[in-house]
Amino acid sequence: MISPILSVARDGSAPGVPSLVEALESGSVLVFHDEDFPFNDFEKRFVERPFADGKAKNVNIRGKEASLRGAAGTPEEQEALRQLLIRYKAFAQGLIDRHLPAYTGKITLAGTSYRPFEVDQRKLSWRRDDTRLHVDAFPSNPIGEKRILRIFRNINPNGQPRLWRVGEDFGSMAEKFLPRLPGYSPSSARLLAALRITKARRSEYDHLMLHLHDALKQDIEYQQKGPQADVQFAPGQTWVTFSDLVMHGAMGGRYMLEQTAYLPVTSQADPERSPQRILAKKLGRKLR
Ligand SMILES: [Fe+2]
Repeated sequence: MISPILSVARDGSAPGVPSLVEALESGSVLVFHDEDFPFNDFEKRFVERPFADGKAKNVNIRGKEASLRGAAGTPEEQEALRQLLIRYKAFAQGLIDRHLPAYTGKITLAGTSYRPFEVDQRKLSWRRDDTRLHVDAFPSNPIGEKRILRIFRNINPNGQPRLWRVGEDFGSMAEKFLPRLPGYSPSSARLLAALRITKARRSEYDHLMLHLHDALKQDIEYQQKGPQADVQFAPGQTWVTFSDLVMHGAMGGRYMLEQTAYLPVTSQADPERSPQRILAKKLGRKLR
């Protein structure tokens, strides 16, 4: 079995794996130690205090115009933060091109976020509590036959690591939780889309992933006693993982950059390793 946390050497090699893509698609978190992403003097303020309006969890840029949302600061500071996020997006693309060239031209970069706040330890609703182990699924944004790849970087200036937990492999988890999930209804999926509660029709896959996300977070016994490991990501480290496949919980740390990317299942080196195909196999039929 490939280790869930895989340290990548400067030359792009990793111990015991034939290729980084294979490790990633099998559920590894790839950790890069030597990727430079320097801040200029003006930008250092962004890791000294949060430049966020506090209404949303994160500050992000979206869309072609890369418009900035959720930021605080003077117009000059907000523009500098926007430029920093644009640069991080280019950094993420460069990392994919160099280390995961099989995905170049196939992957689409989506939102880029700046996460200046301490991981939320307040008693949020269980559904929003990301300290609980989960796989990522987006309630209003069905992704269908795409994968969610995320590129994170710890930019903490005081040596504070980002703390994660990672869980067991997706297939073993699905085996336990699939029997508990409610059935899929194509007519309610159509209704949600007609009411614009979802941006597109929620597929059976999206339905299953949302309910897996919820069932995992609601199961306190599994959260405490299920197979899991603690992981630390030091400042300056960049880590890459399929967050729809790798069960994770964010346990602590502040100041991080994150890039979300989408990859069609059919563009994987091995589509059979996708959560889409794993779930279909467990159910013994195609997903609707
Ligand atoms: Fe997550």
